[in-house]
Amino acid sequence: MRTIITFGTFDVLHIGHVKILQRARAQGDRLVVGISSDALNFSKKQRNPVYPEGERRDIIASLGCVDEVFIEESLELKGEYIKEFGAHALVMGNDWEGRFDEFKSLCEVIYLPRTEGISTTQLIAEIKKYG
Ligand code: CTP
Repeated sequence: MRTIITFGTFDVLHIGHVKILQRARAQGDRLVVGISSDALNFSKKQRNPVYPEGERRDIIASLGCVDEVFIEESLELKGEYIKEFGAHALVMGNDWEGRFDEFKSLCEVIYLPRTEGISTTQLIAEIKKYG
């Protein structure tokens, strides 16, 4: 059983999220997803997510390619989460290229290409135009 772990905010679910999760799952047999807490998201992106953490967690948990979800409370704990869930590989989009290489001592680190032309930030801007 090969366990894959990935992390993200996954706010306002879009096709880029679905594709990375499907491709992450295809790297192994079990996919565990760490969902950034509201506080962690605020510290990373200087804004509150549209959907609160419990809703983002439940939406991601409902996807067929996802086996387990948890709330990621701190960036500092990534190594602990990797060990706790027994992850064999950490998968991230290539907007994070190189930034998780420190975990190569714990597991494989794989960066997958992002889906072009879509992001939550972009979607929020689009939706605002309809206001
Ligand atoms: N992702 C992707 N393709 C996209 C958008 C995101 O593959 N078009 C991946 C990211 O690389 C990351 C995961 O989805 O591994 C979660 O990204 P997240 O930051 O939650 O999504 P974004 O849409 O990038 O959000 P934002 O615009 O708020 O930064």
